[in-house]
Amino acid sequence: MTTSSPSRYSKVTIALHWLGALLILGLIVVGQMMDGMQGPEKLELLDMHRKIGLVTGLIFLVRLVFFFLHARPEADPNWPPMQAKLAKAIHLLLYLLPLVMVASGMASLMIFGLGQYVDNGDIAGYLAAAGSVPPLNVHGIVAKLLVASVVLHVIGAIYHQFVKKDGIMTRMSLRS
Ligand code: HEM
Ligand code: HEM
Repeated sequence: MTTSSPSRYSKVTIALHWLGALLILGLIVVGQMMDGMQGPEKLELLDMHRKIGLVTGLIFLVRLVFFFLHARPEADPNWPPMQAKLAKAIHLLLYLLPLVMVASGMASLMIFGLGQYVDNGDIAGYLAAAGSVPPLNVHGIVAKLLVASVVLHVIGAIYHQFVKKDGIMTRMSLRS
């Protein structure tokens, strides 16, 4: 079993972090694009969104396994305790919210039947049905929470890297 050195995350955790981050950002952008669409191209994007979303879900499940398998660097002892707690809480949200997104997306398509409209390219049927699918509302609300968490996370990383200059990015850097 590979373990992290005390000062950095393990290579697997780092690789999964950046792959997961790229996929999440892409899914959020595609999700926003679909939101304003009414034509058949919406379903083409949605077909891609669901496939990439499912792969992302698998990656986050694997991430969760490595969360327990691999030791992680401790919070910087120079951080005020409140700040360390906030960072930890946001990390937790960044592990869990993507899984809620995948579960609510899958439930909308597979349990509440929206998938049949995507498979048949029936945009009129999709638009008529989508308004009354509860997990899709959950998907929209959790998407906003996820965006807010990512924004706070990235602001925190930039602040520490460039204002505090405490080298936080080296903990998550692909370069060894
Ligand atoms: C693209 C901009 C991003 C940057 C610059 C960034 C940077 C970082 C850095 C430097 C850390 C280490 C923090 C520390 O050691 O205290 C970290 C941890 C983490 N990041 Fe990101 N990140 C980004 C995007 C994301 C996204 C989109 C997600 C997921 C939705 C994410 C999820 C996480 C999680 C869960 C951790 C904690 C890892 C652990 O403790 O196991 N990050 N990130
Ligand atoms: C972490 C993974 C995912 C992320 C970050 C994500 C993100 C988003 C976002 C930001 C939206 C727009 C929400 C809005 O503005 O109301 C959206 C819409 C949607 N997503 Fe996802 N999604 C993910 C996974 C999935 C999966 C796995 C599925 C299906 C299997 C799915 C199905 C949908 C559907 C049906 C919509 C509504 C499209 C519309 O009617 O405009 N998503 N998603």
